[in-house]
Formats: sequence, C-alpha cells, structure tokens
Amino acid sequence: MLVALFVVALSATVWPSAHSLPLSTHSDVQSLAHKHQVPKWPAQYQVSWSLTIPFITKLQSTPFVYNYTVHQDTLNGRQLSTRDGVESVLQIVDTNTMYQIYPKVDTWDCRTLEIDGGGGPTAQQRRRLLSVENGPKLTLVLPDLSEGKWTFNGTSKIRTGAWAGLEADTYVWPLTEDYGYGRVSASYAFYVSQGGSPLRLEMWGVNLYTGGHFDDYEVDFRNFSAGSPPTDIFKIPDICPLKPSVRDSYVGRMQMRHSGLMRHLAIMHPNAHWGDAEYDAFVHRHGRRHRSEEEYQGRAQVFMDNQRMIEQHNAGNHSYKLELNHFADWTREEYRAVFLPNTGAPRLSPQGDSSLVRQHVRTVPAHMVPNTLDWRGSPADSPVKDQAMCGGCWAFGAVASLEAAYFRQTGKQLLLSEQNMMDCSWSTGNTACMGGFQDLAFQWVLNNTVGGLASEEAYPYQGVTNFCRKDVPQAAKFSGKYVEVTGGEEALKEALYTKGPMTVSVDAGPDAFQFYKSGVFDEAKCQTQLDKLDHAVIISGYGTSPEGQHYWLVKNTWSTNWGDKGYIQIARQPDDCGIASQPIYIDFDHVE
Ligand SMILES: *[C@@H]1O[C@H](CO)[C@@H](O)[C@H](O)[C@H]1NC(C)=O
Ligand SMILES: *[C@@H]1O[C@H](CO)[C@@H](O)[C@H](O)[C@H]1NC(C)=O
Ligand SMILES: *[C@@H]1O[C@H](CO)[C@@H](O)[C@H](O)[C@H]1NC(C)=O
Ligand SMILES: *[C@@H]1O[C@H](CO)[C@@H](O)[C@H](O)[C@H]1NC(C)=O
Ligand SMILES: *[C@@H]1O[C@H](CO)[C@@H](O)[C@H](O)[C@H]1NC(C)=O
Repeated sequence: MLVALFVVALSATVWPSAHSLPLSTHSDVQSLAHKHQVPKWPAQYQVSWSLTIPFITKLQSTPFVYNYTVHQDTLNGRQLSTRDGVESVLQIVDTNTMYQIYPKVDTWDCRTLEIDGGGGPTAQQRRRLLSVENGPKLTLVLPDLSEGKWTFNGTSKIRTGAWAGLEADTYVWPLTEDYGYGRVSASYAFYVSQGGSPLRLEMWGVNLYTGGHFDDYEVDFRNFSAGSPPTDIFKIPDICPLKPSVRDSYVGRMQMRHSGLMRHLAIMHPNAHWGDAEYDAFVHRHGRRHRSEEEYQGRAQVFMDNQRMIEQHNAGNHSYKLELNHFADWTREEYRAVFLPNTGAPRLSPQGDSSLVRQHVRTVPAHMVPNTLDWRGSPADSPVKDQAMCGGCWAFGAVASLEAAYFRQTGKQLLLSEQNMMDCSWSTGNTACMGGFQDLAFQWVLNNTVGGLASEEAYPYQGVTNFCRKDVPQAAKFSGKYVEVTGGEEALKEALYTKGPMTVSVDAGPDAFQFYKSGVFDEAKCQTQLDKLDHAVIISGYGTSPEGQHYWLVKNTWSTNWGDKGYIQIARQPDDCGIASQPIYIDFDHVE
C-alpha cells in the first residue's frame, strides 16, 4: 500500500534488515486471549488514516500529514491505498502483482512489481523451499492484535490527535532492547473504540508500516466501515504495465529490493520459537520472524547446512575464513538474488557527464590536520532533519553538501529544499521517495539548465513523491563541480577540515544500526564496498573516544529521536561501514 510501502526510511538505496525486535512466546499470546476479547478486523473494510511525525513540526513551519484511504478486501486478496488522491498502490494477491501510480515531474507514471518480489526470500522461493502455502500478502493496515506482543492495557483516555479526550480500549506493546550501542526503548499503543472501531496508533520506535527508522509516529484512523468495497475499485489503471518490468539498471535493482523488503513488515508477526538452540540464538541476534513451524524448520535446516559448510571450509587450507553471518539462514539462491546482481557495479552511478566531477586534491599537509574535528552546531552543518516515510536520503545527503558549500562560499547558512530535488531530478535517474544517488542529484542540480535550488522554507519537505513545482523561485543559483574524495582516511580528514561536512554512503544494513543509541559503532559485519552501501548520510567530523577508538562523526536524517541526538559515531577503518569509500563535496565556482 501507500507510498510508504516503497519507502524505506532507511533510504536511498536501502535494504532495511529485518528488525530485531524482542521475542514473543506462545504462552504470552494465549494468556492474553483469556483476559480480553481481542477485536478481529473484518475481511472487507474501508478506513482512512492520517500519519503525523511530531519531529517535523520542530523542523519546518509547514508540517505535513500523510492522509490515506484504504479499501481492504482480504477475502479476495486485494487492497487499494490512496494518498491524497495523488498517489496510489493497488495490490492483487492472485497475480502476486502490485501497481504503484505516482507523480513524475509533470505527469503520472506507474510501475508494476511483484508483491513479494525483489529482495529477501520471495513468496515464490518460500513456497518452493519451505513448502509454505500461504502467508499474509497484503500490506498491514490495522495491526492484528492477537499476534505479536500486543497486550490489553485496560481503557484509557486518548491524549492527543483527532480523538483526544475519548475513552478507548488500549493495547500496548512495550519493548526494551540493547544491541550493544545503548539501551533503546520502543513502545506502541493502539486504541480501539468501545464499539470496536480503530481510533489511533502511536509508535515510538520503528515504523510498523514501513519498517522505517526509529521515530515518533502518530496515526489517527477515521471512517472505519466494514463491508464489500465498491465494484471496479480494483481495476488496473491503463497506464500500468501489465507485468512487472525487468529492471536492469542498478537503481532499478535497488528499487526491487525495496519493494521486496516491504513484504517483510513481519515485525507484527509472532516470533515464536520452535526449539533449535543454536538457531534460536541466531534468531535472537538477527531478529528473524517465522510465520509457521514449517518455515522455522526450513530455515533452521538451511542454517545448519551453512554452518557445516563453513566449518569445513575453515578447517581446510584456505587463504580466507568464512563466518556465520546474518545471511546464515538464507539459501544460496536467495543470497544471490538479492546481492550478487550488483557485484561488480563499478561505481554508484555508471552514467553521467564526467565534466561535472573531479577528484579531491589535498592542500593541507597531514601534520596540520587536527586530530579532532566537529562541525556540529556551526552554520556549515545544518540541523538534523527527518526524511520521514520516504526513501529520499540521497536528496538529504546531496543537499547537505550544497548547504556546506554555500556556507563556505558566502559565510551564510541557507537551508535548501530536498523536496525540490526529489520532485524535479528524475531526468538523471533518481526516483524521489523510491530511491536515488547523491552523484546523480549533483549531475542534475549542477547542470547549467538547472543551476540552483529553492529554499527549504519556500519549497518545504513533504516526505512523498510529488509533482515538480516550477512556480517556486531558486533561493540560490550556482555553478561548479562535485568532488569525490578518494584516498581513504587521511584524505577524508583533510577534506573535512578544509571543506566542511559532506555526503557519504554507508552500509546501514546491520540490525544494530537501526537501534544505535551511543558509543562507537564498530561492526565487523559492515560492508565497505561501494556497491554494498545502501544509505546516504552526512559526515560532520571525526574524533577519538575516551577508550582510544577512532571514529567518524556521522549525521543521519532520521530525526533526533534516533541515535545520539541524530548522530552516530562510526569506527574508522577497517570496519567503517563504507564511510571513507566515496565522500562527495561541492565546489562552487559561482554562487548568487
Ligand atoms: C488530512 O486529513 C485531515 C483529517 O481529515 C485534514 O484535516 C487535513 O486537511 C488533510 N490534509 C491534507 C494535506 O489533505
Ligand atoms: C497502560 O497501563 C498502565 C498502568 O495502568 C498506565 O500507566 C499506562 O499509561 C497505560 N498505557 C497506555 C498507552 O495507556
Ligand atoms: C469521512 O467521511 C465523511 C462523510 O462521508 C467525509 O466527509 C470525510 O471527508 C471522511 N473523512 C476522511 C478522513 O476520509
Ligand atoms: C596450504 O596452502 C599453501 C598455499 O597453497 C601451501 O603452500 C601449503 O603447503 C599448504 N599447507 C598444507 C598443510 O597443505
Ligand atoms: C544538462 O542537461 C541537458 C538536458 O538534459 C543535457 O543534454 C546535457 O548533456 C547536460 N549537461 C551536463 C553538463 O550534464
């Protein structure tokens, strides 16, 4: 459903990992059922919901609301989700197909995807490999309160939002977890009217709809009604390709990953255990969810096969060792389907005009570069932003580099518009909330046919894919080049010192990244090759912890509710999650 579906808040090219939320047991669920009559949603209904992100109101004077209307037909496996009458997603389980109709510059476009296609174990693979006939396919709208960690919490008064003041049955799902980088507490609350209608969902944690970043999300439900949907409403729009298209570009493949991953909204599903101690330990570490005992047994078998293979390999005379990493319960086919198509992609974006890019040249000798550097709070380092339910991290990364360049050139701070960049830069291959790359953004904005950007204030962020607005004037006009910092750690330190904050890509895949709170993030499982990096962020400095560990100071765009007030310290080489792999800044030769 929803845009949000395609939109991993993790971003540009993010493949969000299964989130490791705590585990539920059979006994929890059963004892809950004795205490209270848990509402069960009808097989056919219509509901409208609006989602707000309170953090956005601190950021910009024009807050936004995601307004959706959903027609749900579980009986016939169909769902239509429409946002503000602008964007819609139609899902048809029978044909395993979803159609996304979205605005593109000044027109509409549609893409056709497999509901369970793309990244991760697909429905098809699951059926073949694990003999699982059915799993829920349609995207979550109303949480199934009989599943997962939900417990009845009595009645209480709704505090804020559309239903403030109303007395409602309250279900809660609290959790606290420590992934090694600080204790994180999440909590979910769901309110149901005494008549059995859904009223409100409060999420302090990972977004249950998208799997997106840790934040504060508030959803009000309105106009819930049971009954069969209007005839014709599930008609496939003419502009949609009938079959999922074969996507052969790198960007395309990344998008495929997104949509597939979106199927894994499995956070809501019970995480029951079926008994293999070693696999359970793995499940606990990596947050797997299994919908049935068959699926569990199938995965446990794959895990044990891989374990045996790795032990044999490591016992032999080889120049490298294998480890039982978080793919240990994926089959080789699954792994290849998701990761290997990208192997060998030489750079993030293979095409483009090389006249707009150059390589960084050091100007300051290493001994003059300070050991610690922190741009936070300076006008060169814009405030922590929030990409909301949109895979637009690439635009945030690119705009941060532009903002730093603007400050360097003019001595003034000017916040520029990510929405402008997302809405209008399709020509170089970016796809708004569905993903993109910083260098493609630079190729668009530095092209002399564009050569500028509106301000954040005049063209505020909306967190959705939208039409390109031509009526908003550019707040800054500029020309110049984008500059790649190759040469590793020393080069990056020098470039940060002389040029200020800049954008960089990172491997945000490890589970612990989602739940990072504090300390130096040092994950041996982090990837560093360019084609494995899946999220765009901003690097704002570097330093050394009291324990003597060197780190990069990295700013994310997941609000200050995530991480250390929005920032993360990432260990420097060798496990730098790709931070030093390809930082990019902007050099203006003209700005006005
Ligand atoms: C979203 O829905 C709310 C509640 O119906 C309404 O007040 C608001 O104007 C809507 N916003 C948009 C942008 O449509
Ligand atoms: C759940 O119940 C506890 C104890 O009565 C209360 O303190 C808490 O506020 C309730 N949670 C919600 C979300 O209403
Ligand atoms: C709810 O239904 C009423 C009456 O049909 C309509 O006026 C209103 O716009 C609907 N609200 C939403 C949020 O869809
Ligand atoms: C291990 O392999 C290396 C390189 O191929 C070889 O030189 C060495 O003799 C081998 N050692 C054993 C114990 O087979
Ligand atoms: C700028 O954009 C135009 C039109 O899309 C294109 O033909 C041209 O090659 C681009 N120039 C550069 C330097 O990227």
